[in-house]
Amino acid sequence: MKRDFVRIADWSASELWDALDLALHLKREHRAGISHRDVLPGRTLAMIFQKPSLRTRVSFEIGMTQLGGHALYLGPDDIQLGKRETTEDIALNLSRYADGIMARVFGHDVVEELARYATVPVINGLSDLHHPCQALADMLTIRERRRDLAGTTLAFIGDGNNVAHSLIEASALLGVAFRIACPEGHEPQREIVEAARAGGAAVEVIHDPREAARGADVLYTDVWASMGQEEEAAARRKRFQGFSVDGDLLSLAHPRCLVMHCLPAHYGEEITYEASRAPNSVLFDQAENRLHAQKALLALLLA
Ligand code: CP
Ligand code: NVA
Repeated sequence: MKRDFVRIADWSASELWDALDLALHLKREHRAGISHRDVLPGRTLAMIFQKPSLRTRVSFEIGMTQLGGHALYLGPDDIQLGKRETTEDIALNLSRYADGIMARVFGHDVVEELARYATVPVINGLSDLHHPCQALADMLTIRERRRDLAGTTLAFIGDGNNVAHSLIEASALLGVAFRIACPEGHEPQREIVEAARAGGAAVEVIHDPREAARGADVLYTDVWASMGQEEEAAARRKRFQGFSVDGDLLSLAHPRCLVMHCLPAHYGEEITYEASRAPNSVLFDQAENRLHAQKALLALLLA
């Protein structure tokens, strides 16, 4: 049976731990100069992008090369997902050529539909609702710095968006206490929060960034307007005033608090440039760990 990675909550805690263990192992070996070209020899990953990307495209493409395989970039103008032919037919066609599909899409239903019809594994490289690869890399980053994920308090400052949703689901499975401070009307989806709580997770949704930051082990933020929300950017800039990760917020957190952002960043909005370069900033570790976490994912799904 093929396995997909469409959202974090589709996986069990032990599957996530296995992926994190393998990612750490692959990272250590890669740093030691050990080749992984025998892991996916000659395998191909088809990568569909409806939205732009730096990290996702580059880390998947280089990850496949490092594993001995190959990745194919299909941009918005190439296959015109949902316009030129149906998502079902795209999934069925790509399954005849490629060994796996990675897709960055607008509607989450599109990546779900790809997974339903494809006969090869489908990985969500970001949808409007989830960004599971980001959360996997982020948990790897926190684990490297703090050793124990359980007992860690992650405070997310800003929009209850795709990144927040995946972090909630990953936190719930791995024992991280999650709290988000967002303006009224920008809360994460109620079903996602309630499902995490039903599984026994500590998930708090509040509206005061200072309260969220107090004593936190991780301060995490993301853009106020996500891809596809460009027209709302000006209105959001007003609504999100006070929800910036800056020196003031950092001073309330734990002294060794990690500063995290999935990138790309809008400096001076959701984070100041100074806070992004704080001694405990791990922004570029997160970016690097996309490579190692996704190599683990590819090895588990495509081998
Ligand atoms: N964090 C992230 O997914 O970056 P890209 O949008 O550049 O892929
Ligand atoms: N929330 C952001 C994440 C980018 C990696 C977006 O969807 O644009």
